Amino acid sequence: MNYPFWEIPFLGSGWVIGIIAIFHVMISQFAVGGGLYLPMAERKAMRMTDPETRAAWLKQLASHSRFFLVVTAVFGTVSGVGIWFAIGLTHPEATSTLIHNFVFGWAMEWVFFLVELATVAVYYYTWDRIDPKLHLKVGWVYGVASAFTLIIINGILAFMLTPGDTWIAVAGTGQEASKFWNAFFNPTYWPSLLLRTCVCCSLAGVWALITSSRIDADKQPALKTSMVQWSVKWLVPSFVAMPFLMIWYYMMVPASQQALLTLGIDTINAGTFSAVTRMALVIIITSATIVGVAYYLAYRNPLDFNLSHAMAVLLLALIATGAGEYSREMLRKPYVIGRWMYSNGVRVPSVARINQEGYLTHSNWVWSGSDSSYSRGEAIFRGECGSCHTMDGYRPMRQLLAGRDRANIGSFVLMLHDYKPDMPYRRFMPPMVGTQQDVNDLSDYLNFQVNPPAAPRVLTAQK
Ligand code: HEC
Repeated sequence: MNYPFWEIPFLGSGWVIGIIAIFHVMISQFAVGGGLYLPMAERKAMRMTDPETRAAWLKQLASHSRFFLVVTAVFGTVSGVGIWFAIGLTHPEATSTLIHNFVFGWAMEWVFFLVELATVAVYYYTWDRIDPKLHLKVGWVYGVASAFTLIIINGILAFMLTPGDTWIAVAGTGQEASKFWNAFFNPTYWPSLLLRTCVCCSLAGVWALITSSRIDADKQPALKTSMVQWSVKWLVPSFVAMPFLMIWYYMMVPASQQALLTLGIDTINAGTFSAVTRMALVIIITSATIVGVAYYLAYRNPLDFNLSHAMAVLLLALIATGAGEYSREMLRKPYVIGRWMYSNGVRVPSVARINQEGYLTHSNWVWSGSDSSYSRGEAIFRGECGSCHTMDGYRPMRQLLAGRDRANIGSFVLMLHDYKPDMPYRRFMPPMVGTQQDVNDLSDYLNFQVNPPAAPRVLTAQK
């Protein structure tokens, strides 16, 4: 344990990242999709022959671009920085690996962020102030810069799931950065990029429905009809291509990880539904509902399409995004960086050494007075289990271990420690690492939490 542990009671630190990340993904993918939507819509408007329709479209687009600027440049950037804070505190070890390995990737990313933010501001503030053709070009520069933010971050995100054999072969040698491009164009890079591109287009359409739903249907029926219908069309590519892309993506994931999904599907009848499968079904159901709502409420009846309908679509998209990110996260278990680093920051090749030397031996963060079995057990719990479990909230230890006595808890921890190839928990839990003493300390601590010793009885003085 090289870093201190950041404890978030009940929720668990993972959810702090999760909640920020889901909002950030909704907004940042809108920022990328909008980079295509806005210039394409503007070009479409500029080609319209009827001056009145053209003017109405351009006016509406200018208003949409204000909404776009505020949502992406304010909430997108703030939530993006939030992710850095959250992952730095929750997964310091993995964050350090990502920074060391991809330092030039991040540098490129930030250059594109700067271009993106500068051009989106210029785009918004120069409607009607510069030559329309030049304005459209600014829109395209924005579009290209924002596409590159996705092209780069996608390499790093996909790397965490599937770093690829070439990188794994040099991991830990100090030569990792020499395999930058192998790590970047890793096995899930392309399916993931295409999937996210589809999602970006859909989100551009979904968010555009928010602004187009507010067009007054009595005053501008033609504008509202064309704007709503055009925005709905942005959902189409996703729903045609997404199932194929998801299968491709899934095929590129190592078999051990695939098992997390098929485990649930094979056993649907038996009732053991893995979390990944449940989430995959949520994605399918919400996506299908979005198509239904978008087609019947928006495309077929654009004039009756109002803000609450649009908000409903947005909410469904939020649920689908959340489920998508959650599945990706679950698919990666028990690793934070596939086959290289477990979710609790322990590197796969260090397991044998830690088992010899002890988990807390080299940690500077454990209070030196904490040599009681209880406080050592608590530190081990936080470091090794706390990235996925809390005591009483998310994946609650007290509940998961309820009914077990000390001996039973001890054999459970020992089983996690021995990590035999056929142990079912290997699919989602890392090994418990440390010496026999560490195993005992953790078991003592867990036992104390699950079976608290009866409070000392206060003797009432007898008269
Ligand atoms: C990578 C994340 C992760 C880590 C780290 C982790 N677990 Fe788990 N654990 C899970 C998941 C996922 C489940 C399944 C939870 C469920 O069924 O809701 C689980 C289930 C459990 C269960 C219930 C098993 C059962 O059969 O009901 C126990 C007990 C448990 N974990 C103990 C631990 C202990 C002790 C540690 C630390 C040494 C630990 N876990 C570390 C992810 C993790």
